[in-house]
Amino acid sequence: MNLAEHLIPKDIFDQVSLSAQQLQVEAYVIGGFVRDILLKRPSKDIDFVCVGSGIDLAEASAKRLGIRQVTTYKNFGTAMIKHHDHEIEFVGARRESYRQESRKPTVEDGTLEDDQNRRDFTINALAIGINPDNYGELIDPFDGLKDLKKKMIRTPLEPSITFSDDPLRMMRAVRFASQLNFDIAPETFEAIQKEAHRIKIVSGERIIVELNKIILSKKPSYGFNLLFQCGLLELIFPEMMALHGVETIDGKSHKDNFYHTLQVLDNISEHTDDLYLRWAAILHDIAKPPTKRFNKKVGWTFHGHEDRGARMTPAIFKRLKLPLDERMKYVQKLVKLHLRPIALVKKEITDSAIRRLLFEAGDDIDDLMTLCKADITSKNSERVKRYLLNFKTVEQKLKEIEEKDQLRNFQPPVSGEEIMETFHLKPSRIVGDIKNEIREAILEGIIPNNKKEALNLMYSIAKEKGLEF
Ligand code: CTP
Repeated sequence: MNLAEHLIPKDIFDQVSLSAQQLQVEAYVIGGFVRDILLKRPSKDIDFVCVGSGIDLAEASAKRLGIRQVTTYKNFGTAMIKHHDHEIEFVGARRESYRQESRKPTVEDGTLEDDQNRRDFTINALAIGINPDNYGELIDPFDGLKDLKKKMIRTPLEPSITFSDDPLRMMRAVRFASQLNFDIAPETFEAIQKEAHRIKIVSGERIIVELNKIILSKKPSYGFNLLFQCGLLELIFPEMMALHGVETIDGKSHKDNFYHTLQVLDNISEHTDDLYLRWAAILHDIAKPPTKRFNKKVGWTFHGHEDRGARMTPAIFKRLKLPLDERMKYVQKLVKLHLRPIALVKKEITDSAIRRLLFEAGDDIDDLMTLCKADITSKNSERVKRYLLNFKTVEQKLKEIEEKDQLRNFQPPVSGEEIMETFHLKPSRIVGDIKNEIREAILEGIIPNNKKEALNLMYSIAKEKGLEF
């Protein structure tokens, strides 16, 4: 099979090819770029392997392409250049084996075949020649093309060898299966089940990259089910594993919160590609196991799971090497508030309840509504229809109240400084009390959200408290 016409941007491939000739080394495109040509997926990362020095080839190619900056990783014998929006990596073909308990490889020079041998999956071991005698030719020693057609993730070597070279590849198998909607070959999957414990030697930073890619795939539940079945989930994310299972007492069962969470995640994924909104879906019920109680009268309860879940969020983010900045706070807020809109739907909707929700959710109110809609997973389609209809009413109300009161990014209409100045006060508790009373009056709808009314109220509170002005 000749794929020359797919080697674009042409100038990159032509110049690398000429550089390789100049250095008298053979060069090939390899890995994800080749796979993605065959899958017709656009790809911006190009990996070249040459039988010789990858760094020399990078430098010669950069010169020809008019690129000044070459980033080299001498320890790994690799180099990277950027050409417009393409990231181009160069590596010398290697035979490589990892020591059992470490990621540090022992590397020796090798042939193209050696290099293909040590790649993770058959579909990632495909190469295309860029030398005069094989320009565009597909080199496929492991039937990667067949596996692409069969939609199959399979290791080129015996799976336990491939996985012991780099245990992260077990996560990658699930990630590719989930991203591409492929199966994992039975012997490859069995090896993951057997070797799963070795994921412990892999850094959290590398694991989260793969987990996030699973979460961003079209139907993330597929990837999570695989992680669950092969035993990796238990090791990397035990809190999620704990959601699994159904308990029955006195003939009363609760739902399986693992499958419920996956359903919510799939639902939300139809509406958003935002990684952290998807994370909010994953974590929304994460505290159900530790808050689960059985009560003879009402059955199963999970009181306070939203607060407890919000409190669990920072530690989970920290352990999983997710960012601890405003993105974590955002997820925490959504977890904490995830029951509020549905609670509104269930009873009479008062304006003040809507105002409070707007005040607490701020700009994230729309995302919160998206999460709550995704959380409706009842099998009873009549009930789903009714809930969704009620949600429309809540959304309408939110819009009306927001237009009227502008509470989304509530700024107190009277500031602490103004209160202190008016009543000649030093920073003290009373200043906070006055501010709170004004805010409460606005949220309760006693006064509208504007400066004039807030000032009037400020004076009458002050009078009550016997303050002088
Ligand atoms: N690779 C490997 N083992 C790993 C990581 C990478 O064998 N643990 C090889 C594979 O041949 C892979 C190539 O290096 O195709 C590039 O890796 P990477 O950029 O991580 O993945 P891609 O396959 O390019 O896929 P994506 O761009 O979706 O991450």
